[in-house]
Amino acid sequence: MKDSPRLGVNIDHVATLRQARGEFYPSVVEAASVCLLAGADQITIHLREDRRHIQDTDVGAVALVTKKYGKPLNFEMGCHNEIVDIALATGPDWVCLVPEKREERTTEGGLDLLDETNFDKVSQACTKLKAGLPNLKISLFLEASAETLERAAKLPIDAVEIHTGEYAKAFLHGESTESYLGAFRRAQILLKEAGIGCHAGHGLTQESIQPLLQEGLFAEYNVGHWIICQAVFDGLGKVVTTMKESCLQYPLA
Ligand code: PXP
Repeated sequence: MKDSPRLGVNIDHVATLRQARGEFYPSVVEAASVCLLAGADQITIHLREDRRHIQDTDVGAVALVTKKYGKPLNFEMGCHNEIVDIALATGPDWVCLVPEKREERTTEGGLDLLDETNFDKVSQACTKLKAGLPNLKISLFLEASAETLERAAKLPIDAVEIHTGEYAKAFLHGESTESYLGAFRRAQILLKEAGIGCHAGHGLTQESIQPLLQEGLFAEYNVGHWIICQAVFDGLGKVVTTMKESCLQYPLA
């Protein structure tokens, strides 16, 4: 049987809900477990420098869940020394290096590898991570631009995660996605020739992932926001029914 593309579920948004109240629920450990039991192939978490969602204590706790289920933990991170050290101490299966700006709402695009200073920073992070964790696989979050991908091929990486955010936005708003698909096709060929895995992530929904799946463009997809949003509606009615049943058990005098 042929391999199917892998689905990584990004559970940062569960932590966002938890942090909104400063409570211990919803639990990211439970979220990781539910996703893996439901068939997810990996769990993705992003420990941001500003700690806006995933917290330091979540990293080890989620790593234990992925280990228990024998599935990979994909640790998304910016190239900050402090976070590199946390990755080294945790030992995830994958690290996905992303750009990070404090003022952004979410990761807004791929790493700029054409900037020499940035390229060196990414290169140093890759070298340090690989030296400390010889079995670690590294992916870089990049735009589907030939120039950038050619630079990436000079680094000790195992995969590129192509930024699908702009494609997904165009799809959602009914605009043409042809130029994005063309770039994804060229990226797939270039990465295959370089022996580098071709992954995708950002902004994808159940609908916008379909054309990518149909063309077999990517071996792995990392999806978060839409899955957590849709889970609200797949569960909301059930939860309201349960609480209403409690109300019905206690008629007023
Ligand atoms: N891949 C990367 C590199 C990301 O930064 C994110 C967002 O944290 C995702 C995938 C998941 O994106 P979304 O939550 O929009 O599905």
